[in-house]
Amino acid sequence: MEKSAGWLDYWVDPKTWRFRGDFEGMYRDFEDPWFCQRRNDFLERQVVLQILRDRHYQRILDVGCGLGGFTEILRKATDAEFVCGIDVSSTAIGKASAKYDGCQFKIADIRRDAIPLVAEGLYDLVMLQEVIWYILPELSDVFAKIGQSMTDEGILFIEQCFPSEQKFGKEFLQSADELISRYLMPGGFKVLMHYRQILEGEMVLLLKLEKG
Ligand SMILES: C[S@@+](CC[C@H](N)C(=O)[O-])C[C@H]1O[C@@H](n2cnc3c(N)ncnc32)[C@H](O)[C@@H]1O
Repeated sequence: MEKSAGWLDYWVDPKTWRFRGDFEGMYRDFEDPWFCQRRNDFLERQVVLQILRDRHYQRILDVGCGLGGFTEILRKATDAEFVCGIDVSSTAIGKASAKYDGCQFKIADIRRDAIPLVAEGLYDLVMLQEVIWYILPELSDVFAKIGQSMTDEGILFIEQCFPSEQKFGKEFLQSADELISRYLMPGGFKVLMHYRQILEGEMVLLLKLEKG
């Protein structure tokens, strides 16, 4: 693939809309794919931190943490004792580990690999920010796996953009409502907070869920 290709071409074929999933190539060719590090300063990320302020979290898992910027922001904001970020890209995890030594970062594919656990106990906060489009066929299994890695009172926090015109993955998911009714409620999650905002034509969904 040419270096000049956009980020989209790495994870999906824009002609056929078939999933490619070359996240490793993407992190090798781009410093900050999706501008995720830059987005950490945006208002929506400040809103996420505010929403999470009502509890103390001890163990946090950040699924699809990428370069780890928000994982580190979470660690500082929550004062959690253990914060672990996982990502399928070894380049992303290598960069995150080198930069943020207060968190642990591990290479893991959430669709196939076990969630890394710690002796101190299960996670009381699991973050899933902007990952859902990449794991659609396995979504039910992933939510089951995440549920098993959480304490009974644990929180699952989802942040997800929905494009104004969806061309990918319609057979799995067509709307935020479907994400809740088809995947999260049957997976045993209860919605505690639900927020939607249109930003630059895309809908950003913030969902705070409890294991029911
Ligand atoms: C849009 S980025 C979001 C990064 C970060 N969560 C954020 O919001 O700033 C999506 C991330 O999910 C990761 N990812 C995609 N599929 C994954 C999988 N099956 N298991 C773990 N991580 C995955 C990608 O490598 C990428 O870092």
